Amino acid sequence: MRLGVNIDHIATLREARGGLEPEPVFAALIVEASGADAIVAHLREDQRHIKDKDIFLLKEVVNTRLNLEMSITPAIIRVAAKVKPDQATLVPERRQELTTEGGLDVAQNQEKIRQAVKKLEGAGIEVSLFIDPVKKQIRAAKKTGARFIELHTGAYANAKNKAEENKCVRELKSAVNFAKGLGLRVFAGHGLNYNNVSRVSALAGIEELNIGHAIISRAVFAGLGRAVREMKDLIK
Ligand code: PXP
Repeated sequence: MRLGVNIDHIATLREARGGLEPEPVFAALIVEASGADAIVAHLREDQRHIKDKDIFLLKEVVNTRLNLEMSITPAIIRVAAKVKPDQATLVPERRQELTTEGGLDVAQNQEKIRQAVKKLEGAGIEVSLFIDPVKKQIRAAKKTGARFIELHTGAYANAKNKAEENKCVRELKSAVNFAKGLGLRVFAGHGLNYNNVSRVSALAGIEELNIGHAIISRAVFAGLGRAVREMKDLIK
């Protein structure tokens, strides 16, 4: 199974000071050199972390695949059509949210999403729809002309007990099978971490997992000791 790594939180840290570091492009190079199969970044309308310029730079340096998470607002579609990432993953977006909260309601917004898929595909970009693992949304996704879906694993990740977790795994499994039966290609992600990833990576039919927060969080602790030692050496 392939791994796409979301590097938004490198930019979140940069924006905490509004300066130049840490640089998301540098993160992308390390992520790729460490075996990731795709770089994922979310260009939010408020550009609170990743900015237009990051996406243009990432497009220049990414050697694997650049997967741009985005809403379907005209301004963002215009940027995507210029940058031409390898893939665009369409997500719902609310300004107040801390992170993407739910899947796209494709069933309710089918025509708008179909138009967005058409524009992006017309610009040579593969399109994926981030949706909850339910048949109604999968059927609607197929009707938009998108060839990929990314199943939202947030409910699984937030399960409160084993029974709930088992139910979520069953739902994900049947969603994968249903989507494959319709000829869709299937990715999954959101909320996956070092403790919960194995039950999702064990599901046949999912091609790629997109993981961000857990990997960037782990990187902080994996590197903190070294960072302190380097500073201590410099000042002693
Ligand atoms: N997939 C999608 C569509 C997302 O919006 C996000 C969060 O940006 C992720 C995957 C990664 O989620 P997490 O940061 O919880 O691993």
